[in-house]
Amino acid sequence: MSKIGIFFGTETGTTRLIAKKLHKLLGDDIADKPVNVNRITPADMLQYDALILGTPSYGVGEIPGLSAGCLERNWEEFLAQLQNPDFSGKRIAFFGLGAQERYADRFASSLMALYQVFKGFGADIVGDWSTEGYTFQHSASVVDGRFVGLVIDHRTQGMLTDERLKIWAEQIRPLLSTKRASAA
Ligand SMILES: Cc1cc2nc3c(=O)[nH]c(=O)nc-3n(C[C@H](O)[C@H](O)[C@H](O)COP(=O)(O)O)c2cc1C
Repeated sequence: MSKIGIFFGTETGTTRLIAKKLHKLLGDDIADKPVNVNRITPADMLQYDALILGTPSYGVGEIPGLSAGCLERNWEEFLAQLQNPDFSGKRIAFFGLGAQERYADRFASSLMALYQVFKGFGADIVGDWSTEGYTFQHSASVVDGRFVGLVIDHRTQGMLTDERLKIWAEQIRPLLSTKRASAA
């Protein structure tokens, strides 16, 4: 499948909103409509070679789901269906939501938990993001001074959301497109 698949987990709808904005920015010709992971099977995700996966942060940097206190099925319940899947050769860009003032000690930390799972499945990860412009004490999602994916704090910095999405969408578009110019 040559289009980009966009999947998200959500408890209160914000991650869905961000996924929809991303889809609009990328365009219907290159990305399929975002789908909640609580209504898909592994095959729905595995049909794509390029993916954008989004997650809110709940618990203490855990994968969101019923164990982390969520009321809705989320990434935890979807991942439980995956049995040793092969994501090698697949490219994935992640985005994570969080609230830097309220959760300054573990800002957007669930992003790292999701990143590690898919890295373990052999995926090529793209789309890291600068930590500049955010104020927090600690985030598990920082590697070598950068977030492992786009981080959105729609609650505290909602006025920056659209600009961040625009810049990131341009950044990941060539990295996720199947036909790379260099391959010609
Ligand atoms: C109970 C609860 C726990 C949360 N824990 C964290 C956290 O550990 N780190 C963080 O950055 N944000 C945390 N948040 C903020 C959410 O991740 C943020 O509001 C996100 O946008 C929610 O996305 P959703 O509407 O898609 O569920 C928490 C929010 C709630 C209500």
